[in-house]
Amino acid sequence: MKERLKGIESEALSAIASAGNRDAVETARIKYVGRKGLITEILKKMDEIPPEEKPEIGRLVNEAKSKITNALEERLKSLSAGVGPDSGHKIDITLPGSKRAIGRVHPITKTIDEICDIFISLGFRIVEGPEIETEYYNFEALNIPLEHPSRDAFDTFYLKSDSNQKPATRNQKFLLRSHTSPVQARFMEKNKPPFSIVIPGKVFRPDAADASHSFMFHQVEGLAVGGGIRFSDLKGALTNFARRMFGEDTKMRFRPSFFPFTEPSAEVDISCVICRNQKPVTSNQKPITSNQKKCSVCGGKGWLEIMGAGMVNPKVFKNVGYDPNKVAGFAFGMGVERIAMLKYGIDDIRLFFENDLRFLRQF
Ligand code: PHE
Repeated sequence: MKERLKGIESEALSAIASAGNRDAVETARIKYVGRKGLITEILKKMDEIPPEEKPEIGRLVNEAKSKITNALEERLKSLSAGVGPDSGHKIDITLPGSKRAIGRVHPITKTIDEICDIFISLGFRIVEGPEIETEYYNFEALNIPLEHPSRDAFDTFYLKSDSNQKPATRNQKFLLRSHTSPVQARFMEKNKPPFSIVIPGKVFRPDAADASHSFMFHQVEGLAVGGGIRFSDLKGALTNFARRMFGEDTKMRFRPSFFPFTEPSAEVDISCVICRNQKPVTSNQKPITSNQKKCSVCGGKGWLEIMGAGMVNPKVFKNVGYDPNKVAGFAFGMGVERIAMLKYGIDDIRLFFENDLRFLRQF
């Protein structure tokens, strides 16, 4: 009797486990614990069992019954939850599989990498600095005087001063750096020339967002310092960069400009990447083709400004403890978004920051 009971129990449990749908579970219920089920039959035959065995057999039958009943309930639950290969949901193997989305490098990161790779191949190395800066490094160390417009509260994000957060050495206001140039001073204070570095990073300016302005954008700064570095070294490095970034036929133009931390300073232009035409060298000549007038990127000028540059101002060297009579250097700074927009023909800077996958997937 005991053996038979065990047999029924294991048969019932495996039948329940393999029941593929509710009907199959119901069939198993009827077969084992239904009114005429196998377990019920045994209960009915209790009379035939010798009295001394009755308590034990009775207990075993009840145990088997409750195990089977529990198994039936569990099986129904898992079927309605739709879990497991036997849940009754047929698998349509002709359906396309569920794809895992593969991420990719953001176009700005990609552009930073491209810029840095070119300079690394020219012997530069990458250095980074803090996005929260002190007024000293963002301005004073770089010879930017108090009356300079960029120091105005409207042109820089100042942070509320917090007594727990005093700058360690110079007790000055904290701000979000408005350019990557402060890292020049930070690096020079701690390192001896010669060196060539590029400094990629985020910068912040309280500009209202439009197609060409963003309150946060990226720059790549460059700084090369050593004995006998000349303006021609700057031109060489930047020309090499521009040709590799925008194509071998890219032309360069250096326009006199002003930055407090470089002397002399230049604004660096490349020939327009869209119309590829250039304005004739002398300004009294007319544009070569009418096409130039129409170019929406350069406005028909034929040139695009891509960065600021110059020879490091001796005052900056003094501020970091270098002897300006012994060293010379050049520096440059470019906006990454601008470079990416020109390279990929993007007309709105906001596209970089909106996280629209239709845009991002193109890179
Ligand atoms: N820091 C300047 C800017 O943000 C760019 C620059 C860097 C100019 C280095 C000259 C040298 O406009």
